[in-house]
Amino acid sequence: MSQILEHLHQDHIHMARVLDLIERELKRFNGNLPADLSLIYDGLHYLTQHGDRCHHPLEDRVFARLEEVNPSTREAVNRLREEHEALYAKGKAFRDAVRDVESEAAMERRSFLEVAQDYLQHQRRHLDFEETTIFPMARTHISTKDWDDMDMAEERATDPLFGSNADPEYQRLRSAL
Ligand SMILES: [Fe+2]
Ligand SMILES: [Fe+2]
Repeated sequence: MSQILEHLHQDHIHMARVLDLIERELKRFNGNLPADLSLIYDGLHYLTQHGDRCHHPLEDRVFARLEEVNPSTREAVNRLREEHEALYAKGKAFRDAVRDVESEAAMERRSFLEVAQDYLQHQRRHLDFEETTIFPMARTHISTKDWDDMDMAEERATDPLFGSNADPEYQRLRSAL
C-alpha cells in the first residue's frame, strides 16, 4: 500500500475511535445518565478541524489524481467530494447543537439526538465507502510513480490528537479514548 493510503487508513482508525467515544456519551445522554458533553465537543472539534484541514484536503488531492488517470472513477470521486462538503455542514450543525444543549438553550433532546445520529451515520458510511470502494480503486489505478510524484508533506502534518506531539487542548479527550 502506498504510504499516503496507509496514512489515510490510520486516520480512519483514529476517527472511528473518536466516533465510538461520541456514541458512548450519546447513549448515556439518551439514557438520562450523566453524559460528558464537552468530550463530545472535543471529539467533534478534532474530527472537523483535523478532517477539514488535513485529512480531506489530502484525500481530495489523491482522488483528483485518481480521476485523472482513470476517468471511469469520476462518479465515485464526485460522490466523495460531495460527502466531504455534506460532512462539513453536518459536523458544524452537531457542534452548534452541543453548544446549545450545554448552554441549556431551547434545544429539544430529540432534535439534538437526531442531529448527532445523522452526523455519526454519515461519517461512518463515508469511511466505509472510502475503505471499500475508493481506496481499492486508488491501489489499482495509481502507479508507483504517480504516488511518488505526489508531495503531500503539508497535509500529512502531525495529528493533534494521536500524534507524538499531541496538542494539550486534546488532553482530556486523549485520556478518555
Ligand atoms: Fe473522506
Ligand atoms: Fe477519509
